[in-house]
Amino acid sequence: MRGFEIIGTGHYVPGAPVTNEALSRVMNTSDEWIYKRSGIRQRHYAPEGVGASDLGTAAAKRAIEAAGIEPKDIDYIVFATMTPDYIFPGSAALVGANLGLAGVPGLDIRQQCAAMIFGLQIIDGLIQAGHAKTILFVGAEAHAGFMPWHDWDVVEGRSDRKVSDEEKAKADEHRALAVLFGDGAGALVFRVTDRDAGLRGIKVHTDGRAAKLLYVPGGGFRTRPYWKADHFDEQKYVPLMEGRDLFKFAVTKLPETARALCKETNTAIGDIDWFLAHQANQRINEYIREHLGVSKERMPMNIERFGNTSAGTLPILIDECTRKGMLKKGELNMMLALGAGIHWGCALVRW
Ligand code: ACO
Repeated sequence: MRGFEIIGTGHYVPGAPVTNEALSRVMNTSDEWIYKRSGIRQRHYAPEGVGASDLGTAAAKRAIEAAGIEPKDIDYIVFATMTPDYIFPGSAALVGANLGLAGVPGLDIRQQCAAMIFGLQIIDGLIQAGHAKTILFVGAEAHAGFMPWHDWDVVEGRSDRKVSDEEKAKADEHRALAVLFGDGAGALVFRVTDRDAGLRGIKVHTDGRAAKLLYVPGGGFRTRPYWKADHFDEQKYVPLMEGRDLFKFAVTKLPETARALCKETNTAIGDIDWFLAHQANQRINEYIREHLGVSKERMPMNIERFGNTSAGTLPILIDECTRKGMLKKGELNMMLALGAGIHWGCALVRW
């Protein structure tokens, strides 16, 4: 068995933070509602013309610098996003080009908020098979493009004009979704190692029967053409989300999968140093934590500052924790995540 370790981490979020109060200027919402239901206080949004590949490239450069290597040392890129620059090609190719890595394979994966877990399985597989030695994982999202308002000048504080009730009512249709997501990217450099480190166990699952709990109804190749005027007029570019059902799915499946993984690997919850969980909703993570009997200190949270950055979340969290000196060599850490699809999973990694 070949081991791996994370030798460099980085993240990047665009622009100034946008507060809950700023969102209440374009929708009927409030800081109190958003914070109480989700734990979010602010998020960042990618500006017009900036895509997931740009955010991902900025994060990747920081991770490569932290690793003390050159881009040319990377022999594989795994890129995850649910908000790609283009319908095709995927953004892995664009990140590779931005880093000057012509010829290096770039794989796009589409597991939304669960991408880091699926990505780990792929990275471990590539390393075990000897196909790659130094792998760049990037998770990046530019959700701004699906937000249900057009008044970016008001959201971003460039104008204090009053938004019409009609515009607000349109945005309100998607307010439960819109307040949750933020933009950003995280990047991790994985490298094969002789140390006793790497994947100790992993469980990944998909249940496509629940695909429509969170999906984008417009702009897909089920229609001719794949983009129609009504997709815009009827806001079909905004994802539809059954928030309550997703919440229930997450608080049921994640603790269940974590326990199954512990059983399979003969690991006690108390043997695990850090629980690195996707940040979709603070209440989801508190529930998981309490259910598993994990103390608050062992599950770091940053949703308050970033919202849900989907595929970006876990690498951003890992970067922040690494730079704070929290994740140390030799520790046993669990990652947990669930995302649209529905895809979910848990992984145990010896750091
Ligand atoms: N501001 C004010 N009021 C709101 C807002 C808002 N932003 N959004 C909804 N409301 C209102 C609703 O209209 C409703 O009003 P009513 O009672 O008069 O009908 C009330 O608040 C309650 O709405 P619910 O949607 O039932 O609220 P809930 O308690 O379920 O919380 C939330 C909503 C925060 C979305 C929660 O369900 C949740 O977090 N779900 C999980 C989300 C998630 O995990 N997403 C997956 C991400 S994974 C990925 O791959 C991207």
